Amino acid sequence: MTLDQIIDATSVMPVMVVDRPEDAVPLARALVEGGIRVLEITLRTAAGLDAVKAIRRDVPDAIVGVGTIATPAQLEASIAAGAQFGVSPGTTPTLLKAIVDSKLPFFPGVATTTEVMQVLEGGLTVMKFFPAVAAGGVKMLESFRGPFPQVRFCPTGGINAQNAPDFFKLPNVVCVGGSWLTPKDRVAAGNWADITRLAKEAAALKP
Ligand code: 3PG
Repeated sequence: MTLDQIIDATSVMPVMVVDRPEDAVPLARALVEGGIRVLEITLRTAAGLDAVKAIRRDVPDAIVGVGTIATPAQLEASIAAGAQFGVSPGTTPTLLKAIVDSKLPFFPGVATTTEVMQVLEGGLTVMKFFPAVAAGGVKMLESFRGPFPQVRFCPTGGINAQNAPDFFKLPNVVCVGGSWLTPKDRVAAGNWADITRLAKEAAALKP
């Protein structure tokens, strides 16, 4: 699957922190049922990679990526677990080289003009803008359009159902990401119906 196919299949990408491995499949099914197919499983918990494996095995309609990739070793482990794409919070030269070499579709994280330029040096033109709201939000992305008209962004960090529409108005925004679709209390309670409801609302946000 190519990066463009992944972008076409997504509008809101849930940034998922899976604490209990057994939650992964029902959580992914609840999101897919609500129309959200492209899922980012973060490496912030020990269960992350097992969650990716389980969803790849049991939820064929999901497109599963790994987030919070910070090192080449984590990238390698993500590919081995079946990641269909990767996401990083920031981008070091070492990680950028590993991303380019791997050919895995990837959203490398940037927050400044210099970081955008470094990622462009690797030949990649789709980037995660993180932490989106704290780093300047809509205004910053509008400012990026001047020097970097070829770059498309997936902003995440501080985005929710209320402010997402402002980001979708920008021509250089291809998707947004966030953790609001998978609230910890709802996941802990196994309240999958509520997750499906949040997913449906989120899927309707992009005009
Ligand atoms: C990310 O990695 O994209 C963020 O942690 C998601 O940010 P949020 O929790 O503010 O949505």
